[in-house]
Amino acid sequence: MSDNIAVIGLSWGDEGKGKFVDYLAQKADIVVRYNGGNNAGHTIEANGIKYKFKLIPSGAPLEKECIIANGCVVDPKVLLEEIDNLKKLDKKINLKLSSTAHVIFPFHRVLDGLEEELKGKYSAGTTKRGIGPTYSDKAARWGLRIFDLINPEILKPKLEKLYHIKKNLIRVYDPTWDVDIDSIFEEYKSYGEQLKPYVIDTAYYLNKVLDSGKKVVFEAAQGNLLGIDHGCYPYGTSSNPNALGITAGTGIPPKKIGKVIGIVKAYTSRVGNGFFPTELFNNTSEKIREQGNEYGTVTGRSRRVGWIDLFNIKYGIMINGIDKIVITLLDALQEINPIKMCTAYELDGKILESWPIQHEIIEKCKPIYRTFEGWEELTRDKWLEIALKGYDSLPDTMKVYIQAIKDELQTDIAMISIGPDRTETIVLDENIF
Ligand code: GDP
Ligand code: IMO
Ligand code: MG
Repeated sequence: MSDNIAVIGLSWGDEGKGKFVDYLAQKADIVVRYNGGNNAGHTIEANGIKYKFKLIPSGAPLEKECIIANGCVVDPKVLLEEIDNLKKLDKKINLKLSSTAHVIFPFHRVLDGLEEELKGKYSAGTTKRGIGPTYSDKAARWGLRIFDLINPEILKPKLEKLYHIKKNLIRVYDPTWDVDIDSIFEEYKSYGEQLKPYVIDTAYYLNKVLDSGKKVVFEAAQGNLLGIDHGCYPYGTSSNPNALGITAGTGIPPKKIGKVIGIVKAYTSRVGNGFFPTELFNNTSEKIREQGNEYGTVTGRSRRVGWIDLFNIKYGIMINGIDKIVITLLDALQEINPIKMCTAYELDGKILESWPIQHEIIEKCKPIYRTFEGWEELTRDKWLEIALKGYDSLPDTMKVYIQAIKDELQTDIAMISIGPDRTETIVLDENIF
């Protein structure tokens, strides 16, 4: 097996992928984002700086080589802003952008909003960043790629054709809609000029550097349950935010992926619509939301919170072939007593054997819980001190909870996280990477 490692969120996103991609990048050469776009928000805290990335891979704080691969959809304006932010922090930028990633245009964002309205109760509550419409155009084979963006003579006719198609579609719903296509062309031509130095054939490059022995961290955006093929359709996103998305999203053959690590929050959160069996609507959820700072990085929306759902995590372990898990945000459950853990679903008086992917079935299921004693509130300094001392110094009740997760999932735990900072991490498996 190769030495590479993939970091996958096992729920509905925001599990703490960014923190652990950064952590694992300490021993890697390259970090690759392979799905999604600026619907993602990945947070890293290190050396007193808080980084929030939507597109740039989470290897940037450590100045690792960062690759945005072909499976991503790119809003060039957002990417250029992120590059600028890193420059302001005096960070060395070592970025490569795939020539075959798809480009998000302003009309994709307009369509995202319109389609959400039309879908009514079936809307996912998207980030309205144009993600779905851009992936739709990719599948329809009239989308524009980064290669088109950096070649104005190719961009112009393709953009005019796409604009014409989109204009006619948007005007069905909003007859007054229009944008000045010449100004979009000029704006995007300029983005293309600025991004051109970063653009390469990343599939070819990645295969070459992997063969030369470089170590890669594959960074998923979103979470397993938001996946287009194996998630809560239609209440998810438009890419494969799982380990299955890595090969198509990068051009790396399956056998080169290496280990796959699943990130699991100590409770569950979800932004947007769709059924959430363990969701809480009381003072407990408010307390967890405050303690875990559960407000969306991209849209600022309050995240919905609930108990950990090991039944849907087991499903994620199967779909992704998870080798080991990482448990995050354990500190955010402080002073919550008791803590509940969903281990199974009941439907019509029977315990289900497999997680029901269809939302109409999930809506009828009743979660089955185990109950645990919580742990006390500690200061941030105290959590840091515990992280430095190691696993044995964790509160005893937290250790019981962690052991129960391991036993229920029958999966080993590689690391645990008791704070947002890189240092607030306890490594249980030194050979993880
Ligand atoms: P991602 O989308 O999976 O990368 O996760 P986000 O960055 O959107 O959300 C996770 C949030 O939790 C961020 O604000 C992180 O800084 C924070 N975080 C990560 N791990 C921990 C932890 O163990 N404890 C606390 N309190 N915060 C954490
Ligand atoms: P990270 O990478 C949480 C959700 C949206 C919506 C659905 C579809 O930070 O974990 P989209 O804009 O993709 O068409 O929205 O998916 N969603 C996320 N939720 N974290 C994310 O990314 C998300 N990216 C998309 O809220 O329900
Ligand atoms: Mg996030």
